[in-house]
Amino acid sequence: MNIAIDGPAGAGKSTIAKLVAKKLGYIYVDTGAMYRTVALFLLRKGTDTDQAQAVADDIKDIVISIQYENGVQQVYLNDENVTGLIRTEEVGNMASKASALLCVREKLLDLQRKLAAEHDVVMDGRDIGSNILPNAETKIYLTASPAVRAKRRFDELSERGETPVLEKIEADIIARDKQDMEREIAPLKQTEDAVLIDSSYMSIEEVVAAIIDEASKK
Ligand code: DC
Repeated sequence: MNIAIDGPAGAGKSTIAKLVAKKLGYIYVDTGAMYRTVALFLLRKGTDTDQAQAVADDIKDIVISIQYENGVQQVYLNDENVTGLIRTEEVGNMASKASALLCVREKLLDLQRKLAAEHDVVMDGRDIGSNILPNAETKIYLTASPAVRAKRRFDELSERGETPVLEKIEADIIARDKQDMEREIAPLKQTEDAVLIDSSYMSIEEVVAAIIDEASKK
């Protein structure tokens, strides 16, 4: 059984997907973390994402892999656990740019499909229901208004001791949505068979319950 959860940045996909996976005893697969890992590599190397061939050459030999430690996904860049290094806005924005490139998407496709073939998964991302797992038993399109998503991210960063600017976060979120929805390859979109959940005015528990209810119909 596979549950695909797609939606824009900051919709709460990872929080929700983790809880759904825990309740059902499935594995949670965060595909955004894989794109963020490629982005971290490109940022370190100083590769320009406008140069598709340079990106293709640079990422050719890197290995991105996933392991689970106490049930929590850890992402590796070659032998380095980079899980704690990929949650910055800089990496997120780079991931959005890099993920528009075919060579980057192709690099991660097999890893994502393999995980879903070997386990019951709750997988979140942008193109899971539309492209990676078109036959997923349950497909959810999870969204919330840009203002609500910006406020959530603002609170998250503040809790981490950072000093974010709400207006900047909202502008970044809107720019990232545009980039992810308007790219040519595997853009973010709600497929016809996906259930739309707008979490703007829902609690985490309500969203989790709604998804489990959908999954139980299958
Ligand atoms: O969900 P996130 O913020 O960690 O994702 C970072 C970026 O990675 C996002 O802006 C677009 C890209 N991404 C993608 O193109 N496809 C996915 N399945 C997951 C993420």
